Amino acid sequence: MDVDVLIIGSGAAGLTAALQLATTRKVAVLAKGSISDGATAWAQGGIAAVLEPGDNFQNHIEDTMVAGAGLNNRATVEFVVENAPVAIERLAKLGVPFNLEGNDWHLTREGGHSHRRIVHVDDATGWAVQQALEAAARAHPNIMLIPDMVAVDLISGRHQERFSTSGRVHGVYALNRTTGQVETFTARATILASGGAGRTYLYSTAPRGATGDGIAMAWRAGCRVSNMEFMQFHPTCLYNLDVKNFLITEAVRGEGGILKNPKTGHRYMPDYDERAELAPRDIVARANDAEIKRDGLDYVHLDISHKPADFVKAHFPNIYEKLMGLGIDITREPIPVVPAQHYTCGGVLVDLDGRTDAPGLYAAGEVTQSGLHGANRLASNSLLECFVFGDACARHIDAHWDSLPPPPAIRHWDESRVTDSDEEVVIAQCWREIRQFMWNFVGIVRTTKRLERAQHRIDLLRSEVADYYSHFRVTPDLIELRNLVEVAALIIQSALSRHESRGLHFTLDYPETLKEAVDTVLVP
Ligand code: FAD
Ligand code: SIN
Repeated sequence: MDVDVLIIGSGAAGLTAALQLATTRKVAVLAKGSISDGATAWAQGGIAAVLEPGDNFQNHIEDTMVAGAGLNNRATVEFVVENAPVAIERLAKLGVPFNLEGNDWHLTREGGHSHRRIVHVDDATGWAVQQALEAAARAHPNIMLIPDMVAVDLISGRHQERFSTSGRVHGVYALNRTTGQVETFTARATILASGGAGRTYLYSTAPRGATGDGIAMAWRAGCRVSNMEFMQFHPTCLYNLDVKNFLITEAVRGEGGILKNPKTGHRYMPDYDERAELAPRDIVARANDAEIKRDGLDYVHLDISHKPADFVKAHFPNIYEKLMGLGIDITREPIPVVPAQHYTCGGVLVDLDGRTDAPGLYAAGEVTQSGLHGANRLASNSLLECFVFGDACARHIDAHWDSLPPPPAIRHWDESRVTDSDEEVVIAQCWREIRQFMWNFVGIVRTTKRLERAQHRIDLLRSEVADYYSHFRVTPDLIELRNLVEVAALIIQSALSRHESRGLHFTLDYPETLKEAVDTVLVP
């Protein structure tokens, strides 16, 4: 299939770009499962924007830089923060039913924010946003939404019928889950909006599909990848033996929820940071981890039961319902929580127009390292980044349309030397191994020794997976595993190369923060 612009990913970043482009171009949007299965639909807390009288851009910029431990690119932070109110207005026009207080936005608060700054739709903002974007995209004659299409690799010069060393990207090969065939999608411009890599970790709040496909594909296509050591752990994921990845939004702490040691009942956050429960996420996650490890606990308690029941139910209706279903009444008792991987701060390097290193390839959203988040993302800046950069990619493509060459003739996917797998067990085993050792050796608190152990393991798994990939027909699980291995290797390599502790990267071997903040940039 040939289209004007191809977008890999149907979350906030991909659909924002699609809607902007569709005024002038034909766009195809691929999703590897259903159209709404990305992290966007799962977002709870909301979207950060300066909308409160008394707040200003400078405050939001400073809060972002403080959370990011000085590693942020100031120009990117300014660009995103200053475009936030417009992005919110655009969403409201699309029909996102943001909570209001009279004629004003209802703004909630989250860690690291010096003001109330989070617009939201109860405690299920992402779902409302995804529905509104999807409805607009479905209604647009220039947008084709294509679910169940798993991108395998970007198409570049070496896939042309007439081989070329040009690094220009012309589209993707993607596995059609329904037919089992790999199809060729070409376009003048391709946008990666494929989300993060949370599933490299055993415990993660991210959806099943967050396997870092876009990061791995861009890396294989020759793009630089940056700051992969900064994996964000959310402090408060529900601890439950059946429900493994249900987030308890930071807004619970924003509205007065407190963290307690279940053994002693002690409210411990003030011992760790003067901002207590509203310190940036890296600090709260490390504090929870420290309490759990020191006292041999399974979890800590997040308690909002001291607030009036009506207030709790009105602010967190979905969490209330969900936990009632699990036998926990949050208006009367504390919630058992643990830290879990939540967000990938690093990714494919992009400029302010969303351009990657490969001509013709753009990227937006969690797949990128745009300079916004630095060493630790400020809460609710992520959806915002998707809206601002999705829009920026689209505008740049449109403005430079005439300089984008039409795709050349591309070779079809070649399956002549592979057979159907007879050893699916290898895939399941590798998946489990990676996620387990990444959790244990490349987690919240790191040491060089543990990182080296992880590196030995990933080197072995990488060669096993490469061997497997060269012999067997691709399946969705194999495609994801190949990417997971690549991304885990990038995380470990980045973590080993940072000889300091900064933001989310905390290592006992280098506890100090160096004076100069420098990005980790890996070159393929
Ligand atoms: P996603 O929404 O993750 O979409 C990725 C898309 O790429 C999907 O359509 C997927 O199918 C597709 N895709 C991936 N790989 C392939 C492939 N190989 N082939 C084809 N398609 C592919 N951020 C906030 O700012 N505020 C919040 O309140 C908030 N709450 C969160 C709560 C949870 C539980 C989680 C997990 C995250 C939360 N975040 C929040 C983070 C935020 O939701 C994500 O960073 C953001 O939604 C990412 O959007 P995206 O468009 O980049 O990717
Ligand atoms: C949350 O609601 O706690 C998640 C917010 C975010 O990830 O930005």
